[in-house]
Amino acid sequence: MSINERFLENKVVLITGAGSGFGREMAIQFAKRGASLALNDINIDGLNETKKLVLEESDTDILLVKADISNSSEVKQMAKEVFNKFDNVFVLINNAGIDGGTYKSLSASEEIYDKVMAVNVKGMWNVTKAFFRKMKGQRQFRPVRAKIINIASCAGTNNGINPFIGIYSVSKAAVIAFTKLWALELGSSDITVNAISPGVFLTPIYKNDPNLIRQFLKSRGVKLPINRIGKARWVAELALFLASPMADYITGQNLILDGGMTVSINKL
Ligand SMILES: NC(=O)c1ccc[n+]([C@@H]2O[C@H](COP(=O)([O-])OP(=O)(O)OC[C@H]3O[C@@H](n4cnc5c(N)ncnc54)[C@H](O)[C@@H]3O)[C@@H](O)[C@H]2O)c1
Repeated sequence: MSINERFLENKVVLITGAGSGFGREMAIQFAKRGASLALNDINIDGLNETKKLVLEESDTDILLVKADISNSSEVKQMAKEVFNKFDNVFVLINNAGIDGGTYKSLSASEEIYDKVMAVNVKGMWNVTKAFFRKMKGQRQFRPVRAKIINIASCAGTNNGINPFIGIYSVSKAAVIAFTKLWALELGSSDITVNAISPGVFLTPIYKNDPNLIRQFLKSRGVKLPINRIGKARWVAELALFLASPMADYITGQNLILDGGMTVSINKL
């Protein structure tokens, strides 16, 4: 990538769900580009581990904030803590999410529905709502004052919508819809909003077990044109690209990162 090594110097990156998986990897990679970090999770042990891993490779300012993103009061408190310590949030990465088990949507319990939608959909709405006003005011960073990156999923795309993980699929379709909506609502304030939709990646969601992923793909008859399981690092690198000046004119897009999985469904 031919972007300035430290293009995020003096810029703060807020990552939700940073105590594990993609969130942790993004924290490590963004710090290497000079970012200060505000890292959120409900799991404080996970956050402490992420902080340790970041500091092994980068010397940067890190704020850890324990908050449940589905709870608007906790999110408002988080915003206070972040702006007590930092004077900006240049990149907001709405990453925290839960899978919700393997149910067809109409067999899922009301409890599962409420929980998955509360974390995956209302959670990012809560966080974006608590931060966007300050982000709009960041004229010092123009031409782009701030960037929002939402972590959706192939399961929320037209080709990937998946009855095996029904409510999750719907929640991620809503994430993609919010991405487009916020691009419209925030474009005139020079804020870009994009989503990344990962395919199958080796993370704790799949118990870090490639065999489990292979079984899942086989059971669904899904093939990967680029026949490799994804690495969290690749999600972090795409997020870095979106955060970089090279992507300043991209907004309202859902970038699918799946080795061709979704285009191959019913074709290979
Ligand atoms: N792993 C994959 O293959 C894959 C594929 C597509 C999309 N995704 C999406 O990527 C995102 C990250 O997933 P991951 O694989 O790194 O999962 P993960 O389980 O490793 O990490 C998610 C983190 O979010 C945190 N979290 C959960 N609920 C929260 C809440 N209410 N408030 C704050 N934090 C909360 C968890 O404690 C955890 O640390 C999720 O949105 C997920 O849906 C993952």
